[in-house]
Amino acid sequence: MKNIHLGIAGFGTVGTGLAKIIEKNADWIEKRIDKKLIIDKILVQNKSKERSFLPSNNPFITDNYKELINDEQIDIIVELMGGKDLAYTLVKEALAAGKHVVTANKYLLAVHGKELFALASTHNVGLFYEASVAGGIPVIKTLRESLTGDKIEHICGILNGTANYILSEMTANGIDFKKALEQAQDLGYAESDPTFDIEGIDTAHKLIVLIRLAFGVDYPLEELPIYGISQITKQDIHFAQELGYTIKLLAHVAETDGKLEAGVFPVLMPSHLLLAKTDSNYNAISITGNAAGAITLHGQGAGDFPTGSAVLADILELAKHMHTQTQPDNTGFNNSPLQDAQMLAPEFATSAYYFRFTVKDKPGVMASLSTCLAKHNISIAQAVQKGKPQDIETPIVFTTHTASTKDIFTALEDIDKHDFILKPTVAYRIF
Ligand code: NAP
Ligand code: HSE
Repeated sequence: MKNIHLGIAGFGTVGTGLAKIIEKNADWIEKRIDKKLIIDKILVQNKSKERSFLPSNNPFITDNYKELINDEQIDIIVELMGGKDLAYTLVKEALAAGKHVVTANKYLLAVHGKELFALASTHNVGLFYEASVAGGIPVIKTLRESLTGDKIEHICGILNGTANYILSEMTANGIDFKKALEQAQDLGYAESDPTFDIEGIDTAHKLIVLIRLAFGVDYPLEELPIYGISQITKQDIHFAQELGYTIKLLAHVAETDGKLEAGVFPVLMPSHLLLAKTDSNYNAISITGNAAGAITLHGQGAGDFPTGSAVLADILELAKHMHTQTQPDNTGFNNSPLQDAQMLAPEFATSAYYFRFTVKDKPGVMASLSTCLAKHNISIAQAVQKGKPQDIETPIVFTTHTASTKDIFTALEDIDKHDFILKPTVAYRIF
């Protein structure tokens, strides 16, 4: 029986991790699929770069992507370059040439997924992407297969290892933001542009992938509210802790009356929740189905071996499809292309909130804040003032009961016009 031939595009953290696992688990893989996995060609940007590891069969190293597309021997192209320029061209041409593709590239799938899944369906080939969301956690298969009969009501998750690592280090060790980011980069968790990690963009890409799988619709990335963690201060982390919360960067989507309410934002979560206890580069996802109820998955969301493990699982699944000649199930839904999502406008979302006002400490400030919030239908749950008599600037923290986002933002606009407000008010959702 023919072995499975791979062309790996990208040999950085994940590509190298994958190749090491293929070598280490070679006997086990053969036991699973009765074939060997052979890495024939590797595409890189810089052919003369020193590599700490290369597969022992000495694959052909190239900087020309056409070498992989035009090689008839290659069965599966594994895209591990990242970005949406060459990755898009390569994946598109590979699918059109009738090759199966495995990718870890959520950016590509969030931006070009609709077109690429339709193309894969036309050419009857697999476009698999287990590693694109939450690294080593099998969330794609859980949604596409295990929960296939459930109507999904709600998903929320910590989907970025770098952002979670930074917040965890700031919370547990008092490390500053910049140092924590450098450590995450050294550990291979961060994207080539770390802005994607810290500004919520990478989390947003992953949420778009999950929405497609869970609801069978395409949600346009440009419509998704996206907020990051770069403005989170130690002060807010401490206030949150005192109130019994932990700050996390959360992806969230819920369906109400056929409309999806979705977004990425830093939130305060009650510290006893499993998601709030998810630290370091770990990710966690809670999925609520209308029959299964709530399920939580937890594991490493980034890094060479966890991510390589997810890529390898896709390769082995495709190898089995090639054996049986069955059509690979890429999105979990029959109709291709999928329809666009019906979206709930962000201002109609509701949530409890945390506010930190920076005020001049003088009589009547607390009363003015309360009056203004009441005028906008916002009810205060807790209030904390920590200033000392000599302080010129004093933080006042309020938590609220559930209110509409529209009311929250109009109230803050009004409040920030007062002359006792010294800095723009900080507001985060409480989840
Ligand atoms: P990386 O370490 O930066 O490696 C990227 C690789 O792609 C390098 O080998 C680079 O070549 C090659 N490459 C980049 N641009 C290229 C071009 N224009 N032409 C040819 N080769 C090119 O990236 P990574 O961390 O492994 O991530 C790869 C993908 O996996 C990304 O989509 C990322 O979002 C995703 N992902 C990563 C993780 C993680 O933990 N790192 C987890 C889940 C998903 P050189 O070696 O010559 O520079
Ligand atoms: N940069 C990403 C993260 C890699 O930190 O989660 C995993 O997708």
